[in-house]
Amino acid sequence: MPLHAKIDEARGPAILDLNPVYCRIEHAVPRHRLPAEPMDPAAALALVRDELILDGNARLNLATFVTTWMEPEAEQLMAECFSKNMIDKDEYPQTAELERRCVNILAHLWHAPAALADDDGPDDGASRGSATGCSTTGSSEACMLGGLALLWRWRARHGATAGLPGSGVKPNLVMGANVQVCWEKFCRYWQVEPRMVPMEPGRLHLTGPEAAARCDQNTIGVVAVLGSTMDGSYEPVAEIAAALDALQHDTGLDLPIHVDGASGGFVAPFLAPDLEWDFRVSRVASINTSGHKYGLVYPGVGWIVWRDAAALPDDLVFRVNYLGGDMPTFALNFSRPGSQVAAQYYNFVRLGFEGYRQVQLTCQQVARFIAEQVAGIGPFELLSDGRDLPVVTFKLADQASARYTVFDLSERLRQRGWLVPAYTFPENMQGTAVLRIVVRNGFSQDLAGLLISDLRTQVQVLEAARREPVPLLPGGQRSAFAH
Ligand SMILES: Cc1ncc(COP(=O)(O)O)c(C=O)c1O
Repeated sequence: MPLHAKIDEARGPAILDLNPVYCRIEHAVPRHRLPAEPMDPAAALALVRDELILDGNARLNLATFVTTWMEPEAEQLMAECFSKNMIDKDEYPQTAELERRCVNILAHLWHAPAALADDDGPDDGASRGSATGCSTTGSSEACMLGGLALLWRWRARHGATAGLPGSGVKPNLVMGANVQVCWEKFCRYWQVEPRMVPMEPGRLHLTGPEAAARCDQNTIGVVAVLGSTMDGSYEPVAEIAAALDALQHDTGLDLPIHVDGASGGFVAPFLAPDLEWDFRVSRVASINTSGHKYGLVYPGVGWIVWRDAAALPDDLVFRVNYLGGDMPTFALNFSRPGSQVAAQYYNFVRLGFEGYRQVQLTCQQVARFIAEQVAGIGPFELLSDGRDLPVVTFKLADQASARYTVFDLSERLRQRGWLVPAYTFPENMQGTAVLRIVVRNGFSQDLAGLLISDLRTQVQVLEAARREPVPLLPGGQRSAFAH
C-alpha cells in the first residue's frame, strides 16, 4: 500500500468539524471516506484552507531548493494553463512550441555545439541544432531519462542482452555518495550497480581520480553534480572529464558524463560563466536541471538536454507529428499541466540573461552574508559559504563537547517559523551533522538578518541551558540536548 494511502483512523475524529458560519449542512463530512453529498464550494474551500494553515510558511522554508515565490503575472499565466495537458501536443501546439523553445534556450545557455544562436535567423519551426531535450516533472524524472540513455548506449556497445537478468553482467554507474536520492532510485529501478565514492573530511564530493578509479568496462557513465544537495558545492566536471580522458588513453574505455545540474544548471551560467562544466566539456553527454529550483518556476518542471542525437538512443524516443514537424517525446509520465512550461518560458522572456543574473547574484550575496554572520556567532564551522550554489552549510565545530546538537537548533528555530533542516552526511561521514540554509529568490537580506538574530538568540539559550534547567519546548517535551 502506498505510504500516504495508509488510513490512520487514530488521527482525529472520523467526522470533520465545519464552522457553522461557513454553511449549514445537513450531513456529516467524513474525514477518511468520500462524503455522500456535495457541499457549497465556498465552504469546501474554507474547510480545506483552514486545515492547511498548519503547514509551514513556504517563504520561510530554507530547507528547499524549490521556488516558493513567483510574480502575480506568472501566477495568472499558470492559472490560465492548468487545464492544458502538456502531452496533447496536437491539441496545444503552441504549448509544445514553448517547450521546444525552452529546450533550445537551455541548450544554448549550456553551450551545446549546434544550439541556436541569437543571430541564427528567424524561427521557421524546424528542428534546431543537433541538441535535443524535453521537459519533465522535475530533475528526478530527468535524471531517470539521462540514466536510461546511458544504460541503452552501454547495452548498444555490449549487446542487446547485456545487463539483463541471466546475462551474468551487471552495469554500474559511478558517482559521489553525495548524489541526490533520485540516482539511487535509478540504480535500484533499472538494476544498475551504484558505485558510490564515499565522502571524506575535506572532500565532500566526487573528484576526477576517485571517479576514474571505479570505472570499468561495465560502467555506463559517471554522474557529476553541479551543486551538491549536501552542501551546494560544484563537482569539478572538467577535472572528472580529464581523468576519464586519461583512463581512455590507458584502457580504451570511452565513458560519458551526465551532469546533474538540478540547481547549478540555472546558477553557474549566470554567476560563473567561465566555469567549464557543460557541453563545452566534450565528454558531457547530457545535462538535467530543475525549472522549479533556480529556474524560478513553481513545482514541478525539470529539463534534460542531450548534446546530440547520438547521445539519446533512438529506440527510447517516441515521435509525434504536429504542424508538419517531428516532435520527439521521451518521458516516464504521460499527462501533466502545461502551466509550468508556460511559466518557464515567461521567466525566460521576462528576465532575460541579465534578469536571471541579478536574481542569482542577489541570492549569492545573501548567502555570503549569512555565512559571514554564522561564522561570527562562534560555535560553528562552515562547510560551504555560498560561493557555488547560494547554500550555507555549517556544523558545531566541537560537536563532541557541545551539550546540544544541530537538531536542537533546528527545532528551536522552528518555534519562530524558520524551517532550517539538520541532517547527517552519508557513508564515511555519518558522524557529521549539519544545518543547511538554501537561499532562494525572495529571501531578502532583511529576512536573513532576522534569521541570524534568531539563530544567535537560540545559541545563547542553548549555551545557557548548560547551567540552568532546560526550557520546555511546545508540547512539554524537553530538547534532546537535556539527556
Ligand atoms: C542534485 C539534485 N538532483 C536531483 C534532485 C531531484 O530534483 P527534483 O526535486 O526536481 O526531482 C535534487 C533535489 O534537490 C538535487 O538537489
